[in-house]
Amino acid sequence: LLIIINYCKVEDSLEKKTVASPGRGILAMDESNATCGKRLASIGLENTEANRQAYRTLLVSAPGLGNYISGAILFEETLYQSTVDGKKIVDILVEQGIVPGIKVDKGLVPLTGSNNESWCQGLDGLASREAAYYQAGARFAKWRTVVSIPNGPSELAVKEAAWGLARYAAISQDNGLVPIVEPEILLDGEHGIERTFEVAQKVWAETFYYMAENNVMFEGILLKPSMVTPGAECKDKATPEQVAEYTLKLLHRRIPPAVPGIMFLSGGQSEVEATQNLNAMNQSPNPWHVSFSYARALQNTCLKTWGGRPENLKAAQDALLLRAKANSLAQLGKYTS
Ligand code: 13P
Repeated sequence: LLIIINYCKVEDSLEKKTVASPGRGILAMDESNATCGKRLASIGLENTEANRQAYRTLLVSAPGLGNYISGAILFEETLYQSTVDGKKIVDILVEQGIVPGIKVDKGLVPLTGSNNESWCQGLDGLASREAAYYQAGARFAKWRTVVSIPNGPSELAVKEAAWGLARYAAISQDNGLVPIVEPEILLDGEHGIERTFEVAQKVWAETFYYMAENNVMFEGILLKPSMVTPGAECKDKATPEQVAEYTLKLLHRRIPPAVPGIMFLSGGQSEVEATQNLNAMNQSPNPWHVSFSYARALQNTCLKTWGGRPENLKAAQDALLLRAKANSLAQLGKYTS
């Protein structure tokens, strides 16, 4: 009976039709306070709660954002935060037709015994935190861990990343949140696209192995992979067609069609590159909804345009909507630059 109840709880909250819906993707706006501080510093603003609130109010209240964005990932502070006019941010999202999600990992720390690699914390107390997040309106969760190619990756680092993601995914489903599974393979390095492909195959094989061991229901998860590209410092650049070819080959080899949505991260690609690569992947039908869950590739120009000045608010929202619409078209394979 317990299994049936838990199953129903997850089924009810799948939200997959909403989050993985045609022409829409996810706005990742879940920068931790430290990362948000770096973004604010880049436009000369102090990392205060008021500045974070002003910026996030700007993002969620962009008119018509829900036409292109199906879900927004929030940092804990924002889940409980109000806009500058005193409305709950979660309520604004729901009014826009956007499902609120929550970053639940507690960030990276050094992985002892590895090659200067890291592992991701946050499993202790996760079930009770997630129950509270659900009460506050979250319907999906995100856990980001990383794998570094120049530092290995070591067997240990890959295993730890995969196991952590699997435990998190099982706990999230048990608490009614759809888990976004994100083993980010960092762009850093001089390696070519073949090497990224090899590492990505290994990482996804282990992640699905441990998810199966933990009885994770594959039809109730979303993935957030890195695209398969050459390292950022590689001499050979790849065209969108090459990125699409390698990335789709990886997905076909490793990802069961039961998984409803693949929501890529942008990982330091330029705004236009991230859109072109996504568009190239949607030139023919895929078994999954292939879409975006970008932070920087949606926000960079928006943030710069705003610059912390109230008079730039509309222009900044327009910049966000421009990227959101471009990626919406790319999800449909209809983007032209
Ligand atoms: P980027 O799109 O900036 O890589 O961020 C996505 C994200 O949420 C990483 O966890």
